[in-house]
Amino acid sequence: MKTIVFKSTDIPKAAQLIARGKLVAFPTETVYGLGANAFDERAVQNIFKAKGRPFADPIIVHCANITMAESVAEMTPHAYALARAFWPGPLTLILQKKSNIPNIVTGGKKTVGIRIPAHPLAVRLIAAAGVPIAAPSANMFSHTSPTTTEHVLEDLGGKIAGVIKAGRSRIGIESTVVDLTSQPPRILRPGGITFQQLKKVLPAIQDYPGVASRKSPGQYKRHYSPRARVLPVRTLQDIVRYTRQNPDAKIGCMCYTEWKPAVMKLGFVSYDWGSRKNEEQLARRIYSGFRYLDAKKVDIIAIPIPKKSGLGQAIADRIRKASAA
Ligand code: TXA
Ligand code: MG
Repeated sequence: MKTIVFKSTDIPKAAQLIARGKLVAFPTETVYGLGANAFDERAVQNIFKAKGRPFADPIIVHCANITMAESVAEMTPHAYALARAFWPGPLTLILQKKSNIPNIVTGGKKTVGIRIPAHPLAVRLIAAAGVPIAAPSANMFSHTSPTTTEHVLEDLGGKIAGVIKAGRSRIGIESTVVDLTSQPPRILRPGGITFQQLKKVLPAIQDYPGVASRKSPGQYKRHYSPRARVLPVRTLQDIVRYTRQNPDAKIGCMCYTEWKPAVMKLGFVSYDWGSRKNEEQLARRIYSGFRYLDAKKVDIIAIPIPKKSGLGQAIADRIRKASAA
């Protein structure tokens, strides 16, 4: 299959493919998604096949507006409060599903994850298709999520009908997943909206426990991973020590700007990740860095773990999962 690369002016054509049951990847502000008509069981089945994703792992349904969200899920007062504060944006709400959403979308669960993305092309695609779009991240199962059109083509080129071309995703890591069907509501996956932001709107919300919750079946131990082994470190000294102990390993470094002069001297292959003080930048560039270092054929990707507050919590979560054996 030849994967068509659509321009933003081709949205009506891409939407037509979605409506006809085909798979089209599209940009969102978090990561690129692999979309299918959420009402079309066969199309959604093909998402799982293209990604090699286990069927028990439920898929987020993307809506263009609140009315569309109301048509597929039971919106609650908490849902409206969070929607008012954070939609469109990097927040997924787990709600009771309505019967028009096929079981394959939700892995057989009675709940559904809903998100209104903030990327204008995503919203235009959904509106033009006229149906909610079921979409996981547009990467092969357990691999690093895509934040550029090129990343999507690396993983899924030739396997899907099309991709809508756009620039780098603005947030760079996935949405925060909040379960509103549990008492109290809680974070199942940290992401683009922080615990501190959510707490201001929903004081009762429970923070992400740090380990994957069983209620989110997609929370596999190993996830978001490059091909190279990910080695979390605290300091540059940790990397130097590791190199001495493993002289044959080709080391790549996700390098804080502050580390750059020292890393240059040490001669590691490195990716200029961003300032350790700028969590937005670290989030935006982490997956690009993984893919860049993979392309350099390193054996090990050494990466410092940022402070676990704010967006740092989601970044640390992705590093932990990417490094799981
Ligand atoms: O930012 C994002 O969320 C991106 C973009 C494309 O929207 N999507 C994304 O989808 O990251 P995916 O499939 O890679 O991750 C979806 C996560 C999984 O951890 C899944 O288990 C959880 O959301 N999820 C979806 N529906 C759920 C449900 N009904 N109950 C519990 N967890 C759910
Ligand atoms: Mg994913």
